[in-house]
Amino acid sequence: MGETRTVRPASRLRGTVSVPGDKSVTHRALMLGALGAGDSRIERFLDAADTRATLGCLRALGATIEEVAGAAPGEGVLLVRGRGRAGLGEPADVLDCENSGTTIRLLSGLLCGLPGLAVLSGDASLRQRPMDRVVRPLRALDADVTASAGGTRAPIVVRGGPVAGGRRIETGVASAQVKSALLLAALEADGPTTVIEPQATRDHTERMLAARGVGIARTPRAGGAVEVTLSPPPGDLEAVDVRVPGDVSAAAFWLVAAALHPDAELTLRGVGVNETRTGILDVLGGMGAAIERLEEREVGGEPIADLHVESSELRGMRVDGELALRAIDELPLVALAGALAGGETVIADAAELRVKESDRIAETARLLRSFGAEVEERPDGLRIAGGAGLRGACVDAGGDHRLAMVAAVAGLLASGETVVEGAGAVAVSYPRFWSELERLQGVPGAGLEAP
Ligand code: S3P
Repeated sequence: MGETRTVRPASRLRGTVSVPGDKSVTHRALMLGALGAGDSRIERFLDAADTRATLGCLRALGATIEEVAGAAPGEGVLLVRGRGRAGLGEPADVLDCENSGTTIRLLSGLLCGLPGLAVLSGDASLRQRPMDRVVRPLRALDADVTASAGGTRAPIVVRGGPVAGGRRIETGVASAQVKSALLLAALEADGPTTVIEPQATRDHTERMLAARGVGIARTPRAGGAVEVTLSPPPGDLEAVDVRVPGDVSAAAFWLVAAALHPDAELTLRGVGVNETRTGILDVLGGMGAAIERLEEREVGGEPIADLHVESSELRGMRVDGELALRAIDELPLVALAGALAGGETVIADAAELRVKESDRIAETARLLRSFGAEVEERPDGLRIAGGAGLRGACVDAGGDHRLAMVAAVAGLLASGETVVEGAGAVAVSYPRFWSELERLQGVPGAGLEAP
C-alpha cells in the first residue's frame, strides 16, 4: 500500500489491452463453485487481493480450490472441487475478508443456512463500512446474524441454522451485494424468497444461479425497481465452468485515458458489457467519446465485446439516476473526465460513493483539486467545472485502489509529473495496472501493448 509511483504525461497511447477478469464474477464463481456438486473450472479469474480474500475464506470453510499450473499471466485457472453444501463447515478462526465488501456481504448471506458459527471481519476500511444493510434483511429471513456497533459494522457473526422461506424482503438500498447476500441465504430457505431492490443493480448472481439449476424469476416493477424470486433447489447447485469476462470497471481506466488523450487509439479485448455494468460506456458516449463495440459475443452467460476507443472531444454532462448506479464504481473516473471536458459535469444520486472503500465523493474532490480542477462537493455527488486542464500533482490514494488508478490516469493527462502515494492499493483489483502503465512510460511513443 505504501508504495509510491511517478507518472509522466503520455506522449501517445496506442495498442491492445487485455484487462483482468471481472471482480464481481470471480467472487461469485468461487462461492457458487464451492457450493457446487462437483468440479468447476474458473478460467481468466481475477487474481487480486479482493478475490484472494474470498478464496482464503472459502478454504477456511473447508473448500478445496486448486490453482492450475502453467496458465499465462492474466489467464489463470482455478479448479474448485465442490462437494455441495456438505463440503463447507465451521471455520477454525475469524474469516478475514480484508478490504472486500463483496466477500463479507455475500459470505454473510451464504453462511446463514450452513451449520456452524462464523465471524467475518476485515481491514480498517471494511470495518467502517455499513453492514446493517445486510444484517437487517438477513434477520428478516429469521437468520441468526449479529454485528458489532449495534449490528452496523464488522465483525459480523453468523450462526448457521434454518432460513425462513415464503418471505418478501426489500433491500432498502440499491446494492447488488445486499441482494446477492439475500439470494445466497435464500438457497437454504424452506420455500421461495422474493427480494425487491429499489433500482436494478448488477445481475451476475441471478445469471449464475440460474445457470446452476436454481429457479430465478426477475420481474421489473414501477420506477425501476426489480423483484427477484428464488426457488431453492432440491439438492446442491450444479457445477458449472466459467470463463470470466474482462472487467469493464478495469477497462474504464484505459477508456478514459484514451478518450481524453490527444493522440490515442486503444483496443480493449473481451470486456464484459452486461448492461447493468455499462453505465460508464453510456456516460462516455454521452460526453462524446468515440467508443465502438466490436465482436459482441457471449461467454458463460455474460455478454462481452472488444472496445475500441480513440481520442475525442468531450463535453460535460449530468450523470444521475439509474445511469449513476450503472456506473457507480466508475464515477470518480467520470469526475476526472469532467475536469478535462468542455463545460460542466454534475454527478448526482450517488451518495453510496461515500460508503465505498473510501468516501469517494470527498476523496475524488480532494484528488482532482490537487491537479488544479475546480470541484464542488455535494451530499450526493460532485459538480466539476471542466476545461481548465490539469497540472501534475503529488497525491495520496488514501488506501483506495480505484482512486490510485484515477490519480495515475490524471497523471497521464496532466502537464508535468505526478506522484501517487499509496500506489500499492491497485493490488486489490488490478495488480498489473502499474506494469501496463510502465510499458507506456518506459517506451515513449510505443503505447500500450497486449501482455
Ligand atoms: C459489487 C456491488 C457494488 C460495487 C462493488 C461490487 C458486487 O457494491 O460497488 O464494487 O460485486 O456485487 P454495492 O452492492 O455496495 O452497491
